[in-house]
Amino acid sequence: MNRTTAAIKIERDVLAHNYHPLSVVVERAEGSWITDVDGKRYLDCLAGYSALNFGHGHPALLAAARAQLARATLTSRAFHNDRLGPFAAKLADLCGMHLVLPMNTGAEAVETGIKVARRWAYQVKGVPADDAEIVVAAGNFHGRTTTVVSFSTDEQARTGFGPFTPGFTVVPYDDLDALEAAVGERTAAVLVEPIQGEAGVVVPSDGYLAGIRRICDDRRALFVADEIQSGLGRVGATFACELAGVRPDIYLLGKALGGGVVPVSAVVSSRDVLGLIRPGEHGSTFGGNPLAAAVGSAVVDLLATGEYQAAARRIGDVLHRGLRDLIGHGVTAVRGVGAWAGVDIDPAIGSGRQICEALAERGVLVKDTHGSTIRFAPPLVTTDDEIRWALDRLREVLAARQSTV
Ligand SMILES: Cc1ncc(COP(=O)(O)O)c(C=O)c1O
Repeated sequence: MNRTTAAIKIERDVLAHNYHPLSVVVERAEGSWITDVDGKRYLDCLAGYSALNFGHGHPALLAAARAQLARATLTSRAFHNDRLGPFAAKLADLCGMHLVLPMNTGAEAVETGIKVARRWAYQVKGVPADDAEIVVAAGNFHGRTTTVVSFSTDEQARTGFGPFTPGFTVVPYDDLDALEAAVGERTAAVLVEPIQGEAGVVVPSDGYLAGIRRICDDRRALFVADEIQSGLGRVGATFACELAGVRPDIYLLGKALGGGVVPVSAVVSSRDVLGLIRPGEHGSTFGGNPLAAAVGSAVVDLLATGEYQAAARRIGDVLHRGLRDLIGHGVTAVRGVGAWAGVDIDPAIGSGRQICEALAERGVLVKDTHGSTIRFAPPLVTTDDEIRWALDRLREVLAARQSTV
């Protein structure tokens, strides 16, 4: 049994089967490249679903983590720490907001955003107690907790996990008429992904996000943008909302905020909104720990240079041009912005999973979603030549499968 087979066997024997990973066992990774336990190298074109926007082992992030490991790693919020304040100040500044509520995972940031929006609805908008509604979009992916799957439209995410949390209204994504009809007196917030990642990198029409902003302003509701996957450089700007010229009331951030080193998430908003939360009403043992804050601070420093946003635009040009050339050659549609693409594979030549497996054999790692879509989200340190190399591998895989059907 080679090391890959042995490692997969032990995982299969002792882990809950809540994932269906590709048969690649990562041993080490640097920049955009992963090496498996048998020494084979792969170009990482998934980047931990955008948690690795700065690549694996970015020297500035590792240096920040190492320095902090030697100082203090966890204080809990029972005490202050000397890293959290400076991190929050930088992050609020990056977002053009006032206050930060630090958590760990993306789902926790979403849960926190929901609580904050409800609090605002009761204390500021005057919604009767326990009557607040949050309007969300069909096809959403905001995480896996019981409240969050309560408003998922993916049956696989929900079936067998009820009863669900009430207080959510689902409207079709990218449909302002439906949204306008759903937002009313009891609406605390509209919660959307500015680009729906897990749905297959679905980019809404021009004017959709601005329309949400207008409806929220007219009806006095908060606009909560889940930028956990779209934010922090991926789309060629710091935020996808920024590309649309729109400022939400609340940003939900995660994934790349921890630089792929530690889990760091945050809710970032104005004093009028986040200032409503009082001691004892919300928190997390690990949220805002000094190690997370040190790495998060280094992440914000990287983003403040603008280099990574520019890299996403450059990568996006090469990636989208190359992918569009494959339409009609095994690809039926390509969506996306910046270094982020959803690619629909012609079901006649195989499933998304089969294409991902064939690409992995040729040294390119991507992941399928919803049967026939594959997603590209390479680290923003990937070179144009590496992207072209990955596109050549995809072309080969598609041609090989076309010749067998
Ligand atoms: C838009 C969005 N929100 C929330 C989440 C949940 O993040 P986590 O897996 O860190 O809980 C994800 C994860 O893919 C996401 O893409």
